[in-house]
Amino acid sequence: MLSEQAKQEILASLKKYHDKRSAVMDAVRIAQKENGGHVVKRDMEEIAEILEMQPVEVNAAAAFYTMYRIDKPVGRHHIQVCRNISCSLMGAEHIIKHLERSLGIKTGETTTDHRITLSTVECLGSCGTAPMMQVNDEYYENLTEAKIDELLKKMA
Ligand code: FES
Repeated sequence: MLSEQAKQEILASLKKYHDKRSAVMDAVRIAQKENGGHVVKRDMEEIAEILEMQPVEVNAAAAFYTMYRIDKPVGRHHIQVCRNISCSLMGAEHIIKHLERSLGIKTGETTTDHRITLSTVECLGSCGTAPMMQVNDEYYENLTEAKIDELLKKMA
């Protein structure tokens, strides 16, 4: 259930758009952030009510983008490695394998202590600094094994 604060944030975001429906991505982002990194069906139903949409339309919009996680809780740190063309050419697969080995999980999984979730995503718009990944809201670029080891140490 969305908090009163989340509902107010969604209502405030409406000012940016001519049409209420255009705020759907903002609304899902707000709901996901409030819920610790994933959005649940119940919240999408509330968003639909606020934006005067059908719940299935909110679900379809959220399901289209990899930055939204529907009904899949994530760890405190959500690592999303880009595996699109530039990053692939610059070694994304190697980076992903290194992360899987270091964390002891496969892509799409969360560590047993719920600390870290590892995902792969399509282009994050930082192709010039490939290979790269996003952890929560931060970008990490020009990745090497050493940089990843350093980052994982900080997350421990
Ligand atoms: S291909 Fe990885 S950021 Fe664009």
